[in-house]
Amino acid sequence: MCGIVGYVGKRDCTEVLMNGLRKLEYRGYDSAGIAVFQNGEITVAKSKGRLDDLEERMKQDGAPIGQVGIGHTRWATHGEPSDVNSHPHSGGRVTIVHNGIIENYKEIKDFLITKGVSFDSDTDTEVVARLLDYRYNGSPIQTISETVRDLKGSYALGIIFADHPEQVYTVRCESPLIVGVGELESFIASDVLAIIEYTRNYYLLEHEEIAVLGRDGVHIYDAFGQPVQKELKTADWDVETIGKGGYAHFMLKEIHEQPTAIRNTIRPRIRDGLPNLEECGITLEVLRAFRHIHIIACGTAMHAGTVGKYVIEKLACVQVTVDIASEFRYRDPLVGEGDLVIIISQSGETADSLVAMRLAKKLGAKTLAIVNAMGSSIAREADMLIYTYAGPEIAVASTKAYMVQIAVMYLFAFELALAVGKIDETKCRSFVHLLEQTPDVISEILNHKEQTQYIASSLITADSLLYIGRGLDYALSMEGSLKLKEISYIHSESYAAGELKHGTISLITENMPVIAVATQKALWEKTISNIKEVKARGAKVILVCRKSDVVDKDAVDMRFGLPDFDDMLMPMIAVVPLQLIAYYTSVLKGNDVDKPRNLAKSVTVE
Ligand code: AGP
Ligand code: GLU
Repeated sequence: MCGIVGYVGKRDCTEVLMNGLRKLEYRGYDSAGIAVFQNGEITVAKSKGRLDDLEERMKQDGAPIGQVGIGHTRWATHGEPSDVNSHPHSGGRVTIVHNGIIENYKEIKDFLITKGVSFDSDTDTEVVARLLDYRYNGSPIQTISETVRDLKGSYALGIIFADHPEQVYTVRCESPLIVGVGELESFIASDVLAIIEYTRNYYLLEHEEIAVLGRDGVHIYDAFGQPVQKELKTADWDVETIGKGGYAHFMLKEIHEQPTAIRNTIRPRIRDGLPNLEECGITLEVLRAFRHIHIIACGTAMHAGTVGKYVIEKLACVQVTVDIASEFRYRDPLVGEGDLVIIISQSGETADSLVAMRLAKKLGAKTLAIVNAMGSSIAREADMLIYTYAGPEIAVASTKAYMVQIAVMYLFAFELALAVGKIDETKCRSFVHLLEQTPDVISEILNHKEQTQYIASSLITADSLLYIGRGLDYALSMEGSLKLKEISYIHSESYAAGELKHGTISLITENMPVIAVATQKALWEKTISNIKEVKARGAKVILVCRKSDVVDKDAVDMRFGLPDFDDMLMPMIAVVPLQLIAYYTSVLKGNDVDKPRNLAKSVTVE
């Protein structure tokens, strides 16, 4: 999500900011802006669109000239991409750029309105600028430290105060930010890549630490305004690697971003322990009106929808059909008034999904889009919209977008089940509580990836393999199989474990890998029987199940042990080793992991 750059020094600040923002373009954005002290006054230039649009505007209106300032590329979360919603935002004496989401912005905004403060934009960011200004007492550090204590959510802030034209201030919580130190100059940036041409020395800010940048250097304070000493780090990566935050590939980085992506996506939609999708246009009354739900999507997004089907039908007892978008539109679908059509898409631009959504609308159904890319076509045209806050996904193989799509499916299923009276508030709260725990459980897996590398090394010589599972494990194995096939180029299929004996088991030959997923306790015995069937025919069985599960040693060759967790939410946990197995297999085969052959990130053709 978005990019931040800030500068204090002797160079042309506008040039430094624009250069830095260009380096952060890979993160994705929909608008951009800068604020620079020009002759002691804060001068802002901002524009919807690309950095080229901002350059163009500055050519017409004149680019700010100065040596101190902040810049931003925005990935809109609150308020559409527009000139006025672009950052920087000013609260009067305070001007800021922000990366992240302020969850309690509404309460703060309501409070400030009662104090006579008015607002220009729809953003959560302006609320922070106005609050800082409202609280400002001449001491920037004290004002920042007191103000951020009242913020809930994620933020990296670049801040300038009109009466401190020689300084840039910064503070962060959850969102990334580094402070670069050069000779008689200093920088802030969302990642080192943005400033690497000027300096390789930088500080990593901890949560709620505040940094003051001046020509004389950088001073860092803790959340209570007490000075802290920090170790200066030196970047030794090449420029290419830094864009990946130190990870070898975007895919690996994105796999690691999943816990944060889940938190960013679900937190703003939970109120008083219950799902709350009102801001997306979904209330309990709205939900009660639907008799049938259709989920339409492509590829990974369709797999997320398949998990959604299992969960919605189980919890809410509402019938759900999952459709591949390119099939839906050509089969005279039975869709009409009283139906809800959910379109899931990371890019929001997938042509098949977009056209299917338009058809569903024409047939009289209500449409709900679950989309990651802000302001995309599907997001704009749907009747109701839930944004997933995964941030830009660069790797063609989708990982974190899938994760947040499922997270939203769960929230939606909980709310629907509550709406139709299948669960009560207490039960619903306990489900939401479980969902909130998933980021920590995923982090546990990410800290112990070695076994997935070992499994991957056993797959690289395979020509073909099978993924099997039952129920939610089957839904999940579809995604595991697609992930492996798209980046490792090894043929694989996912199969409902119980269906194997009706034909596909004839494919099993000596040493053919079969990855079995068994996380559903009620189906455990049945899946184990299917595993024994393939094992008896020579398969090399790799089992993904709980660490605590006891399995007959002769039935499996390798296993990945998952932390113990609730059955229903297990897809969010168990997908992680499947993503990692695919990733490492691709790496070991020497493939271009992030840009696999023949594939594009956004498929805008039918
Ligand atoms: C995922 O790894 C694939 N690259 C692909 O299946 C993708 O999920 C599909 O093309 C749908 O894209 P969308 O989510 O942007 O609509
Ligand atoms: N939430 C802020 C907005 O919508 C910042 C988004 C970002 O990180 O770019 O403007």
